[in-house]
Amino acid sequence: MSEAHAQTQPEERLEIRPFGPEHMAAALTLSRQVGWPHRKEDWELAMAVSDGVVATQGDRVVGTACCSRFGAVTFYNMIIVDAALRGQGLGRRLMEAVMEPGAGSEMRLTATREGLPLYEKLGFAATHEILQHQGIARTTSPDLPVRDGSVADIGRLAEMDRNASGLERRDLLERIAVQGQVLLADGGFALVREFGRGHVIGPVVAEDAAVARALIAEGARRIAGRFLRIDLPEAAGLSEFVESLVLEHVGGGTAMVRAPGPAVDGDYQTYALVSQALG
Ligand SMILES: CC(C)(COP(=O)(O)OP(=O)(O)OC[C@H]1O[C@@H](n2cnc3c(N)ncnc32)[C@H](O)[C@@H]1OP(=O)(O)O)[C@@H](O)C(=O)NCCC(=O)NCCS
Repeated sequence: MSEAHAQTQPEERLEIRPFGPEHMAAALTLSRQVGWPHRKEDWELAMAVSDGVVATQGDRVVGTACCSRFGAVTFYNMIIVDAALRGQGLGRRLMEAVMEPGAGSEMRLTATREGLPLYEKLGFAATHEILQHQGIARTTSPDLPVRDGSVADIGRLAEMDRNASGLERRDLLERIAVQGQVLLADGGFALVREFGRGHVIGPVVAEDAAVARALIAEGARRIAGRFLRIDLPEAAGLSEFVESLVLEHVGGGTAMVRAPGPAVDGDYQTYALVSQALG
């Protein structure tokens, strides 16, 4: 072998393989590399309700793409390519691999600005904006009564959630309720859990904005003085209210859909997401 060959090893082959528990630590490193706040526990919660693929190069994980099947709708998330390998078609390969089993079903995702062109090329179309708000929550009190619920309520709450979003995600909501708090009002509910740098309120599902505001106010009251995040569909119209709780608008994403099923037209509405990844 020439000296030049000995010094510049040929690039190791990129391979796409199923995401397994052994990839979790490397996936966490990748999400930190792109500045996402996920902790190990947040990846574990996502993967408890998801499948995925990783791209490996030798024994290094250099990309991830996951999907969560919520009944008739599949959500795509945690799509990351190592910064050194972007722009070479790996994102597309990961997406094509993870989308294959969901072919024919409605597909949704929340795109970052970087991901948007890739998803458009894959047939996704923007539906609405998601506004990310966060900050140190201030003490506040709800205008309507809010009481504690428990895991025992989740069957009923999952029905409200499905009515609002078209997503069947009882398993996910149950897992969140086990770890976090369940808030109930007449005409809605909210879940509060630890996530990233602090806590998240979401989902918030309600019959109207007044109920949603009360649920969010009570969630913020419980987290007062600590870091709180909330991701709002722009059209739900609570951005100004959430800013009044000193939760600043810091960015967000674009909700996208491919092969949409029948429009969701329920009595309930989603006022805040579980997360940008899980809808
Ligand atoms: C988004 C991301 C996964 C894309 O990965 P990637 O490996 O760079 O993407 P690819 O090289 O496969 O590009 C896919 C396609 O999008 C196109 N594309 C990528 N960036 C583009 C841009 N800024 N403008 C126009 N087209 C763009 C490419 O030309 C390519 O098109 P082609 O397949 O027709 O040639 C990667 O940028 C990333 O990890 N970003 C940080 C994390 C993130 O934001 N993830 C998205 C979460 S929703």
